[in-house]
Amino acid sequence: MINDRLDRIGDYPFDRLRALLDSHKPQTEEAPLSLALGEPQHPAPDIVHQTLAESGDLWGKYPPIWGTPEFRSAVHQWLAQRYGLSNNMFDPDRTIIPVSGTREALFMMAFTVIPESVSGKTPAVLMPNPFYQVYLGAAALAGAESVFVPATPETNFLPDFHSLDTETLDRTALAYYCTPANPQGTSASVEKLASIVELARKHDFVIVFDECYSEIYNETPPAGGIEACAKLGGSLKNVLIMNSLSKRSSVPGLRSGFVAGDPEIMARFKQVRDYGGAPPPMPLLAVATALWQDEKHVAENRAFYSRKFDLADQKLSGKHGYYRPDGGFYLWLDVGDSEAAALKLWQNAALRVIPGAYFAKTGRDGKNPGAAYIRCALVHDLETTGQALDRLVATL
Ligand SMILES: Cc1ncc(COP(=O)(O)O)c(C=O)c1O
Repeated sequence: MINDRLDRIGDYPFDRLRALLDSHKPQTEEAPLSLALGEPQHPAPDIVHQTLAESGDLWGKYPPIWGTPEFRSAVHQWLAQRYGLSNNMFDPDRTIIPVSGTREALFMMAFTVIPESVSGKTPAVLMPNPFYQVYLGAAALAGAESVFVPATPETNFLPDFHSLDTETLDRTALAYYCTPANPQGTSASVEKLASIVELARKHDFVIVFDECYSEIYNETPPAGGIEACAKLGGSLKNVLIMNSLSKRSSVPGLRSGFVAGDPEIMARFKQVRDYGGAPPPMPLLAVATALWQDEKHVAENRAFYSRKFDLADQKLSGKHGYYRPDGGFYLWLDVGDSEAAALKLWQNAALRVIPGAYFAKTGRDGKNPGAAYIRCALVHDLETTGQALDRLVATL
């Protein structure tokens, strides 16, 4: 007795990577290195240890779904400062919920907003192609049809939802939009985001802006979905934004993020979480509160990534379509055949990278828009990153 919708989503990309590489032994004495996983390895900020040590008395409490007033206020302040919002644009007590990493929120939101059918038709969920795999898993398990919208060099690696036909848009229940994009690192302007919000309101679907790479940027802070709402007059209707401490504060193991947005949807999200949610434990919420209140460690973290991209500029300029991304910490390199390149890097240089093909689906045109690319995560220290990039350049 297994939910047969699981057959629609297939194996997770990292399982596919293990299946591709693990039966091959590298033909080199060099120690294995991995740029496959987007898991920041910078040391956690001191705030984490300090706040945790001071919060021991909180382990005896079940965490409330809405988190604490302190957490909501910290996120509210952060959003207001980061995106230049007026403090009274929205009420944090009705619009912000902490989550145990945004992955679970992206997933659970599908079960909050996708109905059985839309005017008698199968609900659609829009997502970029390539995409963060959780979008597909959520859509499929919630019984919706996934609509893969190409995010290729022709569209600055961002999906153009406006290009879809009216029939599809009218039965869309949910759309995921990732900016800065994983894996390609491009980011959308506030005007572009505002036009997507307008599209969502016109066709009455929920738009989720997945923004967990927003604080790792090159020069200009990327625009955000909430900024687009401010530009359109301040309402959060139909809009949710999700952000996370995993990348911003280099604490993927803390499992801490938030959802902010339309109060009506948030009330329903709370209802879903009453039944199936795992809200962040109170001591971890105290840590998260302190991290959202601090920008110093974030600026240091960003500067650290910038030095790694300087290194990538030196080593990869003019090779494999290299470009320095607007945001995030991935290289998205054009290598022709992504599986062949990943296998060669592993066999010849003991270097693990992930084929872009595993992040994308073959579209209606018969092409997989990730098939020519590999994704490399610059999540290690400078020295390790330099070594890995040298191996990559020498091998490819
Ligand atoms: C695009 C994107 N969204 C969401 C997440 C989830 O991050 P977390 O659950 O750590 O907040 C990730 C993690 O890699 C991601 O790449």
